[in-house]
Amino acid sequence: MATETSNRPYQLVIFGASGFTGQYVVEEVARTADGEDYRGQELRWAVAGRSQKKLEKVLSWAAERLGKPQLKSIDIVICDINDAPSLADMCKKASVVLDCVGPYRFYGEAVVKACIENGAHFLDISGEPKFLESMYLKYDRQAADNGVYIVGSCGFDSIPADLGVLFTRNSIQGNNL
Ligand SMILES: NC(=O)c1ccc[n+]([C@@H]2O[C@H](COP(=O)([O-])OP(=O)(O)OC[C@H]3O[C@@H](n4cnc5c(N)ncnc54)[C@H](OP(=O)(O)O)[C@@H]3O)[C@@H](O)[C@H]2O)c1
Repeated sequence: MATETSNRPYQLVIFGASGFTGQYVVEEVARTADGEDYRGQELRWAVAGRSQKKLEKVLSWAAERLGKPQLKSIDIVICDINDAPSLADMCKKASVVLDCVGPYRFYGEAVVKACIENGAHFLDISGEPKFLESMYLKYDRQAADNGVYIVGSCGFDSIPADLGVLFTRNSIQGNNL
């Protein structure tokens, strides 16, 4: 059964926000999370990684690029993949973890596992089919039992494939894909 996550501190945590790709994810989330949603609520989000200093620098960088000084006060979660309690702690605080820490064949599994065990949904930007397939084979049952979604290859060079799925769905007028 799915874990109730609506009362967690963050709806979204961007893990690996200090990386080359992570910084642009932060910028894009900051841009699109502007203002309130249809319920009059602002997105509760945070950045995560192993270096407080680097994460502060990314927030300052995004604040400057977008002209939003308030980004400097977005919460920072310290988490290292080699420190299992810090991973569990991050996952317990989030409804969704967007994992930008790669290569995923080295770093991805620990995050998938921690998300499943702690009831957080998992997204990644992996372009590594072997990693994606092994996560599916190894964790599908456990993820389903815990009501956790593990969604690989979101965005970036996965967009053409996503567009293909959308095109196919629209072409056959099905809504159940
Ligand atoms: N699908 C696509 O189109 C696409 C596009 C671009 C990238 N990617 C993938 O995205 C991943 C990241 O690429 P990148 O170029 O952004 O890499 P990067 O600049 O090297 O960033 C790696 C990130 O992982 C963090 N990290 C490394 N080891 C860690 C650990 N033990 N604990 C916690 N954080 C750790 C780094 O933290 P520090 O800053 O503290 O070192 C950094 O934030 C790669 O797997 C790449 O293949 C996919």
